[in-house]
Amino acid sequence: MSDRVLAVVLAAGESTRMKSSKSKVLHTVGNLPMISHVISALEKTGVGDVALVVGRDAEPVIAAARSGKLAVTAFEQKERLGTGHAVLAARDAIARGYDQIIIAYGDAPLIEPSPLAEALAKVRSGFDVAVIGFETDKPTGYGRLLTSGGELVAIREEKDATPEERTVTLCNSGLLAINGVRALDLLGKITNNNVKGEYYLTDIVEILRADGGKAATVEAPADTVAGCNNRAELAELEAIWQRRKRHEIMVSGVTMIAPETVFLSFDTEIAQDVTIEPNVIFGPGVRIDSGAVIHAFSHIEGARVASGANVGPFARLRPGANLHANAKVGNFVEIKKAEIGQGAKVSHLTYIGDATVGENTNIGAGTVTCNYDGYNKFETVIGADAFIGSNTLLVAPVKVGNGALTATGSVITEDVPDDAAAFGRARQVNKDGLGAKISARNKAIKEAGKKPR
Ligand code: UD1
Ligand code: CA
Repeated sequence: MSDRVLAVVLAAGESTRMKSSKSKVLHTVGNLPMISHVISALEKTGVGDVALVVGRDAEPVIAAARSGKLAVTAFEQKERLGTGHAVLAARDAIARGYDQIIIAYGDAPLIEPSPLAEALAKVRSGFDVAVIGFETDKPTGYGRLLTSGGELVAIREEKDATPEERTVTLCNSGLLAINGVRALDLLGKITNNNVKGEYYLTDIVEILRADGGKAATVEAPADTVAGCNNRAELAELEAIWQRRKRHEIMVSGVTMIAPETVFLSFDTEIAQDVTIEPNVIFGPGVRIDSGAVIHAFSHIEGARVASGANVGPFARLRPGANLHANAKVGNFVEIKKAEIGQGAKVSHLTYIGDATVGENTNIGAGTVTCNYDGYNKFETVIGADAFIGSNTLLVAPVKVGNGALTATGSVITEDVPDDAAAFGRARQVNKDGLGAKISARNKAIKEAGKKPR
């Protein structure tokens, strides 16, 4: 039978240094709240239940934590008296009886399952606590892991450390695993007898050693345990996360010409043999199938691009854009909530919204689906093999049939039957000599230095 593991996730901080109207853990990395990243890493570590310790913005924080599959119980920490106090806010969850307890912070979204698994294994092998540390040349502000003979003997907070202890570069990430049977007893012995007057979770190491227990360290790469205190650090986390996600996508068979200029979301899915040119942004909810090409400077969100399709340069795909195989969406084209049929082409300067475009249809430059009356949205349906002349305005709701054609510059307000040609424009009139006359008049006005009327 596998172990029962509870994760206690601390997210009750005031987030003062974020200078934000919302809780820090709701700020996003890769377009997903930090707290959701933490929960999803825990999900991959064999954690069964999550006890979430919340303070401000409890409701949205709990909702974000519940976005994954894990069962999350929330506990309110009414006063912010330190990390040791915060963990005990979840006392009732810990008391349910678990083999191991993991403690994690809601503001460290880059955590990876492997050091967590290693920490759990240490506890399983007989250590009371296993603390995840990292090496850094800038240890200021972190608790230091003091070791002796391969065992962890204490965690010293910066403010309480001697000058000699401050030279230690192995730092406390905040992540740790505790023997579930002993957890409540050990946590209950934490006091606030220190420089900050806070209940330090980190005191647990000296407490258990005084009791004859032992603690271990597990080392993790610094950039997987980094936390976030302000917006500058948030941007650093984003950069690390983006690098990781780009790498993952490239090694899965996607070509990126300038990966550092491509921005991905937590759920971006890109299949093998897709090429992404420089400066492309993927918002949430995008899937690109094999062999598609995304040209430079495209912005894609909530969209699906089927295999062999071609997007951009300078294209915008908004939520609900669905490009079928080998479709083409060219420069300065915006697509929203629309099906673009197999092999259809929307090559230049066009808006297609709330629409269906059939197979192999060609949409001319400057076409606009006029889908909105200021209050309501209406649909445009264009059949297969149709030809929409340049600068056609399709005033929705309207249908253009299979094989139909609209004349350039038309305003289409009525349905067009299959195979028909629709002319919705004024007839041209030529007036002999009038052009030259108007030009001569304009020239005279300019030379007289008068303002034309
Ligand atoms: C803590 C560790 C330190 C470690 C560092 C890593 C302690 C005493 N110190 O310090 O060893 O190097 O993290 O980043 O544990 N929180 C609550 N309620 C509280 C206090 C904190 O929910 O009453 C939450 C915060 O929101 C945050 C986390 O716990 O997510 C850590 O708290 P913070 O005050 O940032 O601890 P540090 O001083 O950074
Ligand atoms: Ca911190």
